[in-house]
Amino acid sequence: MLELRHIVKKYDDKVILNDISLSVEDGEIISILGPSGGGKTTLLNVILGITPISSGQILYDEEDLSHVPMQKRGFNIVFQDYALFPNLTAYQNIVYGLRNKPNISTKEEVDDLIRLLDLKEHAGKRISQLSGGQKQRVALARTLVMKPKILLLDEPLSALDGVIKESIKDRIRQIARQYHLTTIIVTHDPEEALTLSHRVLILNGGKIAQFDTPERIIHAPADDFVKKFILSQLQIKRDNIFRLFEQSHASATAH
Ligand SMILES: Nc1ncnc2c1ncn2[C@@H]1O[C@H](COP(=O)(O)OP(=O)(O)OP(=O)(O)O)[C@@H](O)[C@H]1O
Ligand SMILES: [Mg+2]
Repeated sequence: MLELRHIVKKYDDKVILNDISLSVEDGEIISILGPSGGGKTTLLNVILGITPISSGQILYDEEDLSHVPMQKRGFNIVFQDYALFPNLTAYQNIVYGLRNKPNISTKEEVDDLIRLLDLKEHAGKRISQLSGGQKQRVALARTLVMKPKILLLDEPLSALDGVIKESIKDRIRQIARQYHLTTIIVTHDPEEALTLSHRVLILNGGKIAQFDTPERIIHAPADDFVKKFILSQLQIKRDNIFRLFEQSHASATAH
């Protein structure tokens, strides 16, 4: 179990995370949702260990990790820009982290992941020959071969379009279940958060506005902020979809 106790993060005098306390069970999928600048990425980085906290405690299975360096925490992150090596093949990228720690995953385990993420036919291709969704799957595989105790994802789906997004969401769900892997995902899309995760953490101005199941967020929003935020984000999405329809209709009639 991951536990955060009264986490405060300040940059100079500015409070970015303001007294965050929560716990996450093993195998849970958590989404972090909230307005831009609300502290989502900062919270992920604090858990990962690249950003030191100002005060509070981070525990994993009751061990205090608050001042344990990132490499020793055993968590891992997939960044939004994937950060893959463009000159290596997909396979070489996936096994890259194993070169210093070859015993973490067997060849069979690597092959299983490649199969699970549907990358078999792409394994020999260079990164530059892959689509966005394929790159995202390579980035996921590369992180998973290291068997992290917690998988952190910062906006993993934002660059992908509808169908691919759905298939990667399915994969994330399947991996979390199969490997019993705690997964924490930052997103700005409430639909994604509400459909993908067991619980949703809504951050506003560095504070927890609500941390609850999707059902309760929808049916029992903690306050006006949560209600308006979810509704306005869903509305923006709806408006964008309508705009797309209108545009395609306009271009179809113009031809
Ligand atoms: N290294 C830093 N130094 C100073 N301030 C920072 C630093 N990193 C982030 N901040 C500030 O912390 C606040 C929260 O940033 P953060 O990146 O966590 O937001 P976010 O919720 O991930 O936003 P977005 O949805 O835009 O990605 C912002 O006001 C940001 O300017
Ligand atoms: Mg961010």
